[in-house]
Amino acid sequence: MLTLAIETSCDETGVALLKSKGVFSHDLLLNLFSSQVATHDPFGGVVPRLAAREHKANLPLLAKKALEKVRQEKLTITHIAYTAYPGLEPALLIGKTFARTLAWALGIPSYPVNHLDGHIVSALLKTENKKLKTGQLFPAVALVVSGGHTQLYELISFANKNLLGETLDDAIGEAFDKVGRLLGLAYPGGPRLETLAKQGAQTKITFPSPLLRSHDYRFSFSGLKTSVLYFLKAQKKPLNVKYKAEIAHAFQEAALKPIIEKTKQALGHLGARSLFLGGGVAANETLQEKLRALSASVFPGVTLFIPKKEFATDNAAMIALAHNLAFLTTQQARRKK
Ligand code: KG4
Ligand code: ZN
Repeated sequence: MLTLAIETSCDETGVALLKSKGVFSHDLLLNLFSSQVATHDPFGGVVPRLAAREHKANLPLLAKKALEKVRQEKLTITHIAYTAYPGLEPALLIGKTFARTLAWALGIPSYPVNHLDGHIVSALLKTENKKLKTGQLFPAVALVVSGGHTQLYELISFANKNLLGETLDDAIGEAFDKVGRLLGLAYPGGPRLETLAKQGAQTKITFPSPLLRSHDYRFSFSGLKTSVLYFLKAQKKPLNVKYKAEIAHAFQEAALKPIIEKTKQALGHLGARSLFLGGGVAANETLQEKLRALSASVFPGVTLFIPKKEFATDNAAMIALAHNLAFLTTQQARRKK
């Protein structure tokens, strides 16, 4: 199967071509992006109407490049997959309309994809993972940490999952972006805050980690963001970079603590055989280190799937992969019956 996938849920326009022969045999032929960071930067966050306008302008350009490749290499697209939800409604609509029109013109089916399923499987876009067997993976835990979501799932297969719990308010990426803004960092604050935090040492500054000991899978980040706001308001003098880095470090520690604690709970509770990490915040190296340390010390038998940076943030390759994996898994299950 050769899938052309379209991603337009937020501020990245993406088009990808992914060829799949089996559940673990994929060839990413093309993965195109068009970022809108410069458009949204002056507003400190994504403006849905502007996002839709940018997708409308950029999507046909990316799709044209993909179709040219298909024509030149005499390939045949068999499926169109597009991000259907969740995301910004006006932005999603552009992708959906384009995908369905293209599918109609090519005379092939189009499939809606849950954006979060894309994040969950994004680590499998690494070529080294081609020799895996599904029997070694499930049950699995999936941790989605993005600008819009903070969730833990139980994965029964690539086509079947249960939500264990999620954030009650802000997503962790949103908290990184808002605290980044408070510290004077440009949008998106997440990666910049991580860089700043790396320059800061552990000090006496501490921030609360809400719901850390709630013994369930709920998260909360808005109180943490407010604590940083009050802490900054209480400062008498302008802050130097060293002090800002210490604050960033303390915030990052407080934000990651419940993520690690609840992932640990879920892995133990489900007797999981693997952990899938996904979402923009999965690019955070401190989070990756903490998960590796958890896996090494408490769950050495659990296989850890961490996406490459380029596949952690929004992209169309992960949408193609989520579709192909679910499609192939469902086909396999039908054959067994
Ligand atoms: O998954 P994504 O690209 O879009 C959504 O579906 O939300 O995630 C974007 C989020 C932003 O909040 C961004 O600041 C955050 O991921 N992010 C990071 C890092 N890289 C991206 N947060 C913390 N550390 C990073 N290195
Ligand atoms: Zn996303």
